[in-house]
This record gives sequence, structure tokens and C-alpha cells, in this order.
Amino acid sequence: MNKTISRINHGLNGEITIPGDKSISHRSVMFASLGDTPVRIENFLNAADTLSTVNIMKALGAKVEFIDDNTLIVTGLGLHDLKEPQTVLDAGNSGTTLRLLMGLLAGANINAEFTGDDSLSNRPMKRIIEPLTTMGANIESNAGKLPIKIKSVNQRLKAIEYDMPVASAQLKSAIILAGLFADGQTKITEPQVSRDHTERMLSAFGAKITKSKNAVTIERADKLTAPKEIFVPSDISSAAYFMVLGLITKNSELLIKNIGVNTTRTGIIDVLKEMCANIELENKRTICGEEIADIRVKYSKLKGVNINKEIMGRLIDEIPIIAVAAAFAEGQTVIKGAGELRVKETDRIKAVAESFNKFAEGMVEELDDGMIIQGNLKKKFAKADSYGDHRIAMSLAILGAAANGVEITNAGVVNISYPGFYVELEKIK
Ligand code: S3P
Repeated sequence: MNKTISRINHGLNGEITIPGDKSISHRSVMFASLGDTPVRIENFLNAADTLSTVNIMKALGAKVEFIDDNTLIVTGLGLHDLKEPQTVLDAGNSGTTLRLLMGLLAGANINAEFTGDDSLSNRPMKRIIEPLTTMGANIESNAGKLPIKIKSVNQRLKAIEYDMPVASAQLKSAIILAGLFADGQTKITEPQVSRDHTERMLSAFGAKITKSKNAVTIERADKLTAPKEIFVPSDISSAAYFMVLGLITKNSELLIKNIGVNTTRTGIIDVLKEMCANIELENKRTICGEEIADIRVKYSKLKGVNINKEIMGRLIDEIPIIAVAAAFAEGQTVIKGAGELRVKETDRIKAVAESFNKFAEGMVEELDDGMIIQGNLKKKFAKADSYGDHRIAMSLAILGAAANGVEITNAGVVNISYPGFYVELEKIK
């Protein structure tokens, strides 16, 4: 599917409601499936990635009943009673589904085979396989990639102390989930902070989990006690597209409601503020252990900044849309320490450079581990590709809307995390 977005020629005003957080939606269904009482999940993200998790949890024995598009009731069989799946488990495009569930099934000692789409089949899984193997798991792979088989072994996993080579919430969560089944206390240290939704939610399920600075410990659990309800905050990674659109469109003021503002996710707000953005958090509160706020953005004259490795774990998914903000800022923006972008749904450094340069030659220069973006160049109408990546497609839509329009090829991929994105964009335009 191709999508053409025309340029915006007036200020944007109004309120926007964003779908539920992808990371928290995945975890809500996974962890609810590990209890043995019904859990009502509200504001669940109903999108391709999270449905991959729903389907796999069903194959592992969980009962999942949708009340409406975004409300479901999940009832598990209990932590130690997951069912051996009778089918190959298809994680689709979703790294979170695959990596977290590799940890869970290795821990639960269940035979299972995973597949996924072309993008997921090219992403590195050695980083998950290695620590799980050290814990005693038996995992077969295609040289560290899909297809992957978890093979049951005749003893429990053992706890490890693990220094993560990269800041990755998916890797951290996989080891935490395996640690729930391992003898002893598993300790994980990460080089920089990454999102901590697993730690927060498992703690609400009664797991013995502690967190201090960059270290997490987890102990074996006999059972998990599920809360009756989980409310999923709206996704700051999806809100980011409209935050940036409001900031770069003259005479605009947008209020984006009920957004999760857990500090492990708010690097985007810190960076935009450093770029001189007018952003305010209102109505701050905590629901189900996650901080939530309404975010008000007003048109601002942005300035280029330097973004380094230390903050990367708190904004990794927002780099493409930060690059859009940078394209409308005064001066240049230099992003370094973002090598992980090369192994996301596509190589996001290459995808941003090649697609953004269709709007203005020389706008983005690729670095090994980042990019340099020249602000305020004159931009023409462009035809640009999403590279099959939802975050590239949405970033191109915002870039085009704020410039001179865009035709996005392979535009339907927004279904991965934000199926209603184009409708919301047209509504606010
Ligand atoms: C996620 C972690 C991040 C992020 C992904 C979601 C999660 O990946 O990019 O979109 O839900 O844990 P990494 O852990 O590979 O950085």
C-alpha cells in the first residue's frame, strides 16, 4: 500500500488520544497468562505485534477473551503449568514477543519452535541464546537467528550473574523470565538504563524482584499472583509523532492524553526540551505502577543538539522521529552511540538517511553508530520507502506533512504498532 500525505497549511489545535503502550501490552498478556486467575486488561494495544503475543499465549494454554477492541480478559493455567504448544509459534515482526518468550519457555522447560517474518528472521538472537544457554537451556538456532527451537532439558535452569553487553529491555526481560524458574538468585547488570516495565509488572504479580541503579535481581517463584486489573498507559513512542508534529507546525498547540511517562521512556521529552521545545506534562498520576500524564506541546523554534549513548536506552525507538524534529531545527543534530538502530525492524540508520535525503539532498549523513542531521534545509515533495518498518513510515508521514508532502511506499506497516495512525493524522490536519 502507498500512502500520500499532503502538506499542512495551518496551525494544529486539539486533543489526541493515542493507543496503549506496545511494551506494556505485550507484558500484560504474557504475565497475566502466568497467573491462574482472570486479569482484565484495559487500553490494550490491538495491533499486529501484540496480537502475535496473544496468539502464542493462547497456544501455551492461556484463555484470552476480547470484550472489545482494547479490553480483554486473560486467564492463565499457572506459572508452572504452561502447555506444550502443538504448533510452531509465529512471532511475526515482533522482537519483544520472540525474545521475552524465548526466556520464558527456556525457563519453563518446554519444547517449542519459533518463526517470524523476514525482518525478524534477520535480527540477532545470539544475545538471548548465550545467557540462556549458560543457565542450562538447550536452544537450537540457524546461526543465532530464526528458526529457533527450545528443547526441554532434564534439570532446572541455574541462576547466573550476567553483565549485559548492550542496553536492551528485551534481553534483560528474557533473563528475568528465565530467572523466575531458575534455582537461586539471578542478577543482571545493564550498561545503560533501559525500559523497566517487566520489573514493575512482575513485582505487582508478587515476584521477588529488586532493582538498584543498573542492576536487577530475580528469584525463583513457585507461583505468581495476578492482579485483577491492568490499565495500559498510552504509548509515548506513538505519541512522539504528534508531539513533534505540534512542535514543528506554526501556530499549533496539541494536548496528547494519558501518556505513559515512566522515566525509562522519557528520553524523547528530555531531548526535545534541550532542543528548546515548549512541552508541559499535566495531570501527572500513577496507575498500576506506571506514571501517566497529559503532554501539551506548542510550536517552538527548535535548535540542533548532540545525543549520546548514555540516554539511548531511554529513547531508542524515538530516534527516527527525533531526526524529523532535527530536520526542522536550526543548526545540526549529531546522534552517536545508537548502533542498536542497525538491528531494529530494519537498519534504521540507513533507512532514515536514504529516505530523508529524498526530501533534501545531504540532509542526513550516516555514521557507523548514528547520524548527522542538517536542520532547516529546503524540502521538496518526495516519494520515500518505509523499508517495511512502522517507525520509519510514521516518521516519513510527519516529515512530509510538515514539509511539502510525501508518498510513502509500503505504508501499511504502521499496523505493527499504530493501526489508526493515518486516520488520526488526517483528523488532526
Ligand atoms: C522493547 C525494547 C526495545 C525497543 C522495542 C521494545 C521492549 O528493544 O526497541 O521496540 O518492549 O522491551 P531492545 O530491548 O532490543 O532495545
